[in-house]
Amino acid sequence: MYVCLCNGVTEREIRQAAQAGCGSMAELTMRTGCGATCGSCVSMACEILDETRNEAPRTGGNVVPFPLVLSAA
Ligand code: FES
Repeated sequence: MYVCLCNGVTEREIRQAAQAGCGSMAELTMRTGCGATCGSCVSMACEILDETRNEAPRTGGNVVPFPLVLSAA
């Protein structure tokens, strides 16, 4: 289901972002574009983000947080 029609972001993409460590709406926007245009999706996106983060299993720090920054040196 599309949550953000302006930027074509689905519920599944939001859940995947949350499971990968996305912790805020600002981070979700940077990562997916969700909420970056008209903003009418922000409330629903926040609910999905929070719901998924609350049900996500704790992994003990094995998840690489976004954005993944690779060192060139
Ligand atoms: S529906 Fe998400 S920014 Fe417009």
